[in-house]
Amino acid sequence: MSSYLCVELMGFSEFFELDRVAVDAALDKFLPAAGTLPVSIHEAMRYSVFAGGKRLRPALCLEAARLFADPPVAAMAAACAIEFIHTYSLIHDDLPALDNDDLRRGKPTCHKQFGEANAILAGDGLLTLAFETLAQAPIEASRCVRLISEVSRAAGTVRGMVGGQVADLEAEKTRADLATLEYIHQSKTAALIRAACVAGAICGGAADADVERLRNFGENIGWAFQVVDDILDVEESSAALGKTAGKDQAQQKATYPALLGLTQSREVASELAAKAISELEPFGARGRNLRELAEFLVERRS
Ligand code: IPE
Ligand code: IPE
Ligand code: MG
Ligand code: MG
Ligand code: MG
Repeated sequence: MSSYLCVELMGFSEFFELDRVAVDAALDKFLPAAGTLPVSIHEAMRYSVFAGGKRLRPALCLEAARLFADPPVAAMAAACAIEFIHTYSLIHDDLPALDNDDLRRGKPTCHKQFGEANAILAGDGLLTLAFETLAQAPIEASRCVRLISEVSRAAGTVRGMVGGQVADLEAEKTRADLATLEYIHQSKTAALIRAACVAGAICGGAADADVERLRNFGENIGWAFQVVDDILDVEESSAALGKTAGKDQAQQKATYPALLGLTQSREVASELAAKAISELEPFGARGRNLRELAEFLVERRS
């Protein structure tokens, strides 16, 4: 029986939980089975993917698709591909050459568990698997090409995730201004979150104007998401976050709290979320889940 029955009767948290379960099953299906040769890399890839992420990007992708097609089955491959890219970005973000972290998703980081070479290669493996997964999206070929183009740009060096990570590292121990901070946050985090929303819309068969609405929604909520990540690094414990708290100050990272303080950073996050949510107005009641997901992203404590 489909897990997407009783759509009208369900609240956001039930959707979120159902999406999470469905996404985990699909991630398992797209990943090479445990035991596939070489065993070590597949073990490392599976370890990091199933270490316990919130699956926010897949949820955004599925909810964006659900605006146009319910159940959003065609978006599952894109949702998983984006989670693979996100997990790769975390593995590499934690490497000694980048943020040098020991704890991720409540567990030892990939390089702590499997060694640095395996962690680098597990990241490479997940990035490559993401594009193999995207190519399997059950949508018309021209839409699939558009999907691959959107996601690859968001993960790349020009205002994409890799470019943002470079800027993040270069801004350490400098007094970065607001424009630099915006560039870092929009690139390292918002680009992939935006791509999750755009990918959902494309897979759901949205018209071009609606794809652009989802792009603006994703851009703003993704930006807010990283501002909140910076705030939580200051306010929460490592136990709550499942990653080392207080790291940004220790490494003198360019963050919103460092530049504006916590109160003003909260205001920025709320304003960005409100801007994102305003993009959903034309969808009326259909936009409820996405709106609640956006509210959750800024109110979360982990
Ligand atoms: C953490 O993202 C990295 C950032 C881009 C801020 P998440 O907070 O979504 O991490 P997981 O997937 O739940 O572990
Ligand atoms: C990382 O930003 C964004 C990525 C592209 C992985 P952070 O370095 O702040 O993420 P966390 O706090 O380690 O999860
Ligand atoms: Mg980082
Ligand atoms: Mg980090
Ligand atoms: Mg952080």
